[in-house]
Amino acid sequence: MKNIVLIGFMGVGKGSVAREIVKLSEFMAVDTDDLIESMENKKIKKIFEEEGEKYFRKLEKRVARWLEKSVRDTLISTGGGFYKVDNLKKIGTIVLLDSPFEKILQRIKEHPNAKKKLAKRPLLQDLKKAKELYEIRRPEYLEVADIVIDVSDKSLTKIAKEILKKVDK
Ligand code: S3P
Repeated sequence: MKNIVLIGFMGVGKGSVAREIVKLSEFMAVDTDDLIESMENKKIKKIFEEEGEKYFRKLEKRVARWLEKSVRDTLISTGGGFYKVDNLKKIGTIVLLDSPFEKILQRIKEHPNAKKKLAKRPLLQDLKKAKELYEIRRPEYLEVADIVIDVSDKSLTKIAKEILKKVDK
């Protein structure tokens, strides 16, 4: 069994879907942002503020090399820009969580911790710019994905089951 790599835009629910898959299967999960935060002992927001985005992208590449070399049979959730690492396809089966931008915003706003969810994401501070980023990235996400899952208006359980069924084929 290869790794499953969840990609998709900020706030689409990669972390929540990963936790649901862990509940419903034998998969163990890691998250690239969590790995980076523990490597640096700093929150992503702080890394962006103090070291800049370029430095953060370098850390993503380092994590990507390690995942390719050392991680097997694992569910990997990623930050929204992780799909750009050049060895992405060598890490595992790429599953895109796809949703219209407006539904992503709605999902974040409806969350009980909405303020925190927005505040911790440096690239979501300006919604106009975030929408532009979404428009640029969506075709690129579709291009690298092996499997595309439409997550709008679906329960976490339904999404998780759909992924498990599709990667099993
Ligand atoms: C980013 C997404 C974030 C995090 C960082 C950059 C991006 O992860 O990696 O703020 O470039 O889209 P989430 O997708 O979990 O918000």
